[in-house]
Amino acid sequence: MSRLALQGDLLDFTGLPGLDDVDSPAVRFRPDHWLLIEDGRIVAVQPQAPGEDWPREVHAGRLILPGFIDTHVHCPQLDVIASYGTTLLDWLDTYTFPAEQRFADPAVAHAGAALFLDALLAQGTTAAVVFPTVHAVSADALFEAAAQRGMRLISGKVLMDRHAPAGLRDDVAGAERDCEAQIARWHGQGRNAFAVTVRFAITSTPAQLAMAGRLLQRHAGLYMQTHVGENTDEVRWVRELFPEARSYLDVYHRHGLLNERAVLAHGIWLDEADRALLHETGAHIAFCPTSNLFLGSGLFDWQAARALGHGVSMATDVGGGTSLSMLRTLAEAYKVQALRGTRLTAWSALHAATLGAAQALHLDHELGRLEAGCMADLAVWDWAVGPVARHRDAVARGAVSPLPAQSLHARAFAWMTQGDDRNLVASYVAGQLRHRRPGSLGEPV
Ligand code: GUN
Ligand code: ZN
Repeated sequence: MSRLALQGDLLDFTGLPGLDDVDSPAVRFRPDHWLLIEDGRIVAVQPQAPGEDWPREVHAGRLILPGFIDTHVHCPQLDVIASYGTTLLDWLDTYTFPAEQRFADPAVAHAGAALFLDALLAQGTTAAVVFPTVHAVSADALFEAAAQRGMRLISGKVLMDRHAPAGLRDDVAGAERDCEAQIARWHGQGRNAFAVTVRFAITSTPAQLAMAGRLLQRHAGLYMQTHVGENTDEVRWVRELFPEARSYLDVYHRHGLLNERAVLAHGIWLDEADRALLHETGAHIAFCPTSNLFLGSGLFDWQAARALGHGVSMATDVGGGTSLSMLRTLAEAYKVQALRGTRLTAWSALHAATLGAAQALHLDHELGRLEAGCMADLAVWDWAVGPVARHRDAVARGAVSPLPAQSLHARAFAWMTQGDDRNLVASYVAGQLRHRRPGSLGEPV
């Protein structure tokens, strides 16, 4: 039996915080507590130290959170992150499609998958819903690399049979064969799960969308991932391609693609009927603020999502997004919501990146909580790194006289807004140390 005890300030959630409720009762903060881990799972959480027979790591004065869950990110797009000067459709043609063609090569696919998953772990992200490319080998490589690291991964080869260069197109019969093979090989194997991965309505023929719907019908428990309502030119093109559909989202609905395991990125350009449909079907939106700002796509309306009752998770959407850091992503989410007149709390943002995502993916028995029975997928963070953030944190703690101590929310918000991978001390997946800042264990920075 493998055992580990971790001590630190534990932060997680027991419910859904109000979007702008800084005093939410759904926040659970347990300073100076011990997490006891056995064979990859949390077995107890307690204030007292465990017996001498427990190997331990003391992170006194540091935060411990459930590992972040990135619900929409593109493995092959590390090649094009931070590419200048375009909006979505140009960006795909100019940068992204050429880069994705490299992943036909198994050596590129395997090296790319390893680089990508290690980069997630180096940001405190321990689980992800990932787009590979159209090439089956790019998804196989990701599943293999995730299994080696013990990570929870949801992915599947991308479906695209039109409006893309020749090296990036499949066909309905070949794609169906590849998907069936990946479902048989990977779905439910360890922590891997298969997602029917429709790039977006523009790059799949109606026949391919119908095939995607058949796969979901044939195999219970599959995920579905795609993009929707990201950019106004995209929405116009979808309307031309599918004149019979009520809306862009309705294209997916008509083909049987919306269910409680569907993850749709962006959802900026939706109407009330679309949001109600998301609620009815149980599908949810992955909000990608750095991407939406970088590509000039628009401002996601989180308040409207809450009003119509559909789920929202957080995602980096690299390479349209500009960082794999979930902290940076949450900081940008706050700014996008500020432009919409909503004061997003750190609690709502952090919830959406942990328990909220786990619930939306029906994985909350395993992910998103620091509780006995959950997998020990965790990240340990410094509250502040560098002179400015440390001073700001001291102010929040009431250590700068005569300023009074601020609320826990004020402290967490300053951490979320200023933090990044420099704050990350260590990432654990199923209780195994998978990333560590050099020289960081034991001594506070
Ligand atoms: N829509 C279709 N493909 C993509 C992609 O790769 N990135 C983003 N942001 N939107 C898309
Ligand atoms: Zn995307």
